[in-house]
Amino acid sequence: MSSESEKVQRSGSRVRAVRAIVITERFDLAPRRRRQSRSASFRVVSLGIFALCFGASVACATNGSTASRTTAPDAGTVTDESVGRTVSVRPGVNDRYESVDALDTYTEIFEGERREVVAHRAGIVDALGLQPGMTVADIGAGTGLFTFELAAKVGPNGRVLAVDTSPTFLAALRSKVSEKGVGNVIVHRAQPRDVELEPRSLDVALMSNVYHHVEYPFAYMPTVANALADDGELLLIDFERIEGTTSKAMLAHVRVGKDTVIEELERSGLVLVEEVSLGLSENYALRLRVAR
Ligand SMILES: C[S@@+](CC[C@H](N)C(=O)[O-])C[C@H]1O[C@@H](n2cnc3c(N)ncnc32)[C@H](O)[C@@H]1O
Repeated sequence: MSSESEKVQRSGSRVRAVRAIVITERFDLAPRRRRQSRSASFRVVSLGIFALCFGASVACATNGSTASRTTAPDAGTVTDESVGRTVSVRPGVNDRYESVDALDTYTEIFEGERREVVAHRAGIVDALGLQPGMTVADIGAGTGLFTFELAAKVGPNGRVLAVDTSPTFLAALRSKVSEKGVGNVIVHRAQPRDVELEPRSLDVALMSNVYHHVEYPFAYMPTVANALADDGELLLIDFERIEGTTSKAMLAHVRVGKDTVIEELERSGLVLVEEVSLGLSENYALRLRVAR
């Protein structure tokens, strides 16, 4: 083997190794050995390319890329600990929010009077127990159904962090903030695995119909717990998912039911304080605190 090839092998670069094989063949070998070597090199190159492609497709599958999307596993049956931490439990569940007409479509859906959390909005906001001056996060704020009500409750000395991952909704929230001229709403982009808020900075957090859209709950929810103050509270509202009662469409859309959600949240460093009765029938509401 030429010194060029040895150097390349030490560096561990597969692409360079392929090039080195070609260089070796071109310059180092005597003509008689070249024919044998050419077929050997061809086999090595082919094997190398196969290995690279195989490696890449395994990596894509592990990352839950579009190419390898599969049906979402029910976290209740997940045995692989990386699912929900590094692998999405619902690959592509939020893609719908980036379509061209997403803003119009989802403003109508999220803010429509038929939606249970819209009809019960005042009761939900009251249940947060907000006081002037508090810091509250509207996590998964969407089109801002709750954001501006929260802003009115915490007043000019308080802060609302309107948090989302969707560039479409974040842009719409920014426009609404400037149209309404409210000074106490900060629009904040979260990452799918990390809410990226200051540790212990929140008095209150609201997640309304968001948990079933969180792709990496076992990475994300510990970061939400970490953002809560020691006496901070999270009010989490999500759809009931009861076999035999819940519609087929909702069974397919909502990954897990309340009991599994509570288990998952407890694995994420939160403790259930109480289930809050807000007169909801399609949804449940959980009040949680951080386990410190
Ligand atoms: C069904 S909408 C609910 C919107 C709003 N909370 C409401 O009740 O009208 C779910 C929202 O969660 C957002 N979302 C999904 N994953 C998120 C994450 N990891 N962090 C923050 N927001 C997220 C989506 O972009 C979407 O705006």
